[in-house]
Amino acid sequence: MNRPFSHTLARVLSEHTGIHHDPDRQYLLESRLSPLLKTFGVSSLEELGSLLERTPPGREPWLSVYDAISTGESYFFRDRQGLDLIFSTLLPESHVPLTILSAGCSSGEEVYTLAIFRNLRGFSVPLGLEGIDLSPGQIRKAKEGVYGPRALKLLDRTVIDRFFDHDGSVYRIKNFLRENTRFSQGNILSLAQDRPPLSVDGILCRNVVIYFGEEVRRKAINEFYCLLRKGGFLILGSGESLPDGGSPFVQESHDGTIVYRKI
Ligand SMILES: C[S@@+](CC[C@H](N)C(=O)[O-])C[C@H]1O[C@@H](n2cnc3c(N)ncnc32)[C@H](O)[C@@H]1O
Repeated sequence: MNRPFSHTLARVLSEHTGIHHDPDRQYLLESRLSPLLKTFGVSSLEELGSLLERTPPGREPWLSVYDAISTGESYFFRDRQGLDLIFSTLLPESHVPLTILSAGCSSGEEVYTLAIFRNLRGFSVPLGLEGIDLSPGQIRKAKEGVYGPRALKLLDRTVIDRFFDHDGSVYRIKNFLRENTRFSQGNILSLAQDRPPLSVDGILCRNVVIYFGEEVRRKAINEFYCLLRKGGFLILGSGESLPDGGSPFVQESHDGTIVYRKI
């Protein structure tokens, strides 16, 4: 039988993670979080919500909750048009190293995709690639860099042979591709507090804000804006958008791909 919907839990999750849960998605909270109740000595989702409310984020039971609520679906070369654009047009000519952040990087496919592009394009400027995700479990997987065939479904054989070692039924990222990649657990909603301002040149935040309510999207805009250097870009997933046209970012359309630019 379903437990009653916990409004406290839904509110606390939305405030801390951005991820919005409606009462009609009760089954999701129920199925993902009920297994944690015993571990943390509480008897209902409402009690779990109160416990989370009293606990600073970044420690248990938050970390287990992040793992449980993370929808980590990802694959290599996803939304390829935006990726082509980054290397053909968006990254500036530069004599100093550049950095792209994958915000909500899941198990690393997006960061390693950028690393593959960096390699295929012979990009000459040192380009650091960073991934953050709420879920420590996803970050562990990203660091391991081991994937099943589903994650590689858009890659052709030559790309697979060049960048992966085939190991039984899985594919392992080759070591040279890990150069200048970094992964850490982190929250989009506290980016500006956790990292130096003006420290990145581009942000990919794809297939993440779709789970956020409108107010949280506004907060995310501020975090991204503080982090980006002048001229930097933000790309969301196709079909995702920001309130108020993303202001103060300026929207550009490149053959249908929307880019939010800090000018
Ligand atoms: C569907 S995956 C998208 C992965 C990748 N960006 C892509 O497009 O393939 C969404 C990821 O966003 C993460 N996420 C959700 N809210 C987040 C937040 N507030 N801060 C950091 N990561 C978050 C989830 O844990 C999940 O791994």
